[in-house]
Amino acid sequence: MEAEQVLSRLRERKLVIVPDALSFLLEQPTAEQIVEKILAKPAGVFVTRARVEEILEDMTQTEKAADIVVRAASSFDPPAKSIESRFREREEYDVTNKSRCTGSVDDFVEHFRDRFNSIRKLLKNRQTENAIMTIAGARSAVDRRKIRIIGMVKEKRVTKNGHTLIEIEDESSVQACLVSREAPQALKDVVAQILNDEVLAFDGVMSRDLFIIEGVTWPEAPFREKPLLDVDFNIAFISDTHVGSKFFLQKQFSRLLNFFNGDVDDEAQREAAGKIKYLFVAGDLIDGIGIYPSQESELVTKDVFTQFEIFAEFIKKVPDYIEVIIGPGNHDPVRIAQPRPRLSSEFTRDLDKYSNIHFVGDPSVFEVHGLKALMFHGDSFYSVAAAIPTLANAHAQPESVGIELLKRRHLSPVYGENPIVPERRDYLFINEVPDILHYGHVHHNGYANYRGTTIINAGTWQDTTDYALKQGHLPTPCQLPIYNVRSGNLSVINFKE
Ligand SMILES: [Fe+2]
Ligand SMILES: [Fe+2]
Repeated sequence: MEAEQVLSRLRERKLVIVPDALSFLLEQPTAEQIVEKILAKPAGVFVTRARVEEILEDMTQTEKAADIVVRAASSFDPPAKSIESRFREREEYDVTNKSRCTGSVDDFVEHFRDRFNSIRKLLKNRQTENAIMTIAGARSAVDRRKIRIIGMVKEKRVTKNGHTLIEIEDESSVQACLVSREAPQALKDVVAQILNDEVLAFDGVMSRDLFIIEGVTWPEAPFREKPLLDVDFNIAFISDTHVGSKFFLQKQFSRLLNFFNGDVDDEAQREAAGKIKYLFVAGDLIDGIGIYPSQESELVTKDVFTQFEIFAEFIKKVPDYIEVIIGPGNHDPVRIAQPRPRLSSEFTRDLDKYSNIHFVGDPSVFEVHGLKALMFHGDSFYSVAAAIPTLANAHAQPESVGIELLKRRHLSPVYGENPIVPERRDYLFINEVPDILHYGHVHHNGYANYRGTTIINAGTWQDTTDYALKQGHLPTPCQLPIYNVRSGNLSVINFKE
């Protein structure tokens, strides 16, 4: 490329390159690509040498990812290749292209009304001998007659005398409810689990102006048998790769890609790899920029587009018969609040021709061979863990939060702690209980079977950052959970060493 060509291309966009940067640029064999990148994202009127160097460094990083050679073992004949793909998105549960929220008061009112009505419907179907009444109806109930009211918790507090006061609300009115400090310990333990803003059924009696609580019912997931399929394949789970971070464990992740391609010595592991038909990815694909204070010093590349290009180079190396379903997290370039639409085409278009790679929103519901999966990033983890006394150890057992979310039939039950967008339909309400609940965000693997639902937190592929340590996180990087749909067994392969 000639100096005059560079200058005229930049002039068209009213950009000026400093002499030092120009001579450095002209020395590069990739000068033309660098100019394209400068034009695509001008960072001010003056193009400095530092800017050219930064672009060059980003390009080198992308190339490095593209150059990683994934070997498919010659003797590898994966049975999953001959299984027909049966992936079906349940788009009614995905906010992508449907966000209408402007943040008005009306939006909030409609959002909480939708949440209240959805959960009330579930609670109304729960067995009870007591008459179900609205708050207004309860006021005229005969004193001391046992009744049930369904309400959203406005506020829960302990009085200075040690009683617990819970203010609840429905569409008819607001009611103060009491759990006396002399109440049985079992009831007090139950009441300790109540979160602000959640919708519950309360059994008890009216005593003058107060409702005396004697029992609490959550909407819950019904007891079911874990569904098993006739067909034999595996689902692999990952989340929180954080590509672009200095702490992204690239070597281990490359080993994972080799494993997907059958290049692994261990015979049992190779057999497991050959059965993988689906890969679920629960967000924090890249590290992003400006997500937390002083993050810049922990980044390899400071450009989200480059970070995503590198992620894409990796994901392209997953064999094409494996369907990859990818949702966003709080580090990805989508809105910070949930529900999140899927990543926009300005990021994903390079992957359009890979028909096995699917981008979904957060949360998203989809089915593989009829098995229902609910995947979300897990942003509400910390607010739920902090509010429930029995979850003091949740950082090391992230599956415990998944259980609470299923019990509450909501992915973000506490309002105000982690941001949500008050869409008029509450996309975070769990309408259908999933067979698989998959999330990440916590960077710590965890598994449970709760009433027939397999709960999986897929950990991370990022090493421990200083920021994570300060937050008290306990990462368990590079552990790959694999679920077999015929046996219902979960196995974990460690790629760390
Ligand atoms: Fe993360
Ligand atoms: Fe996250």
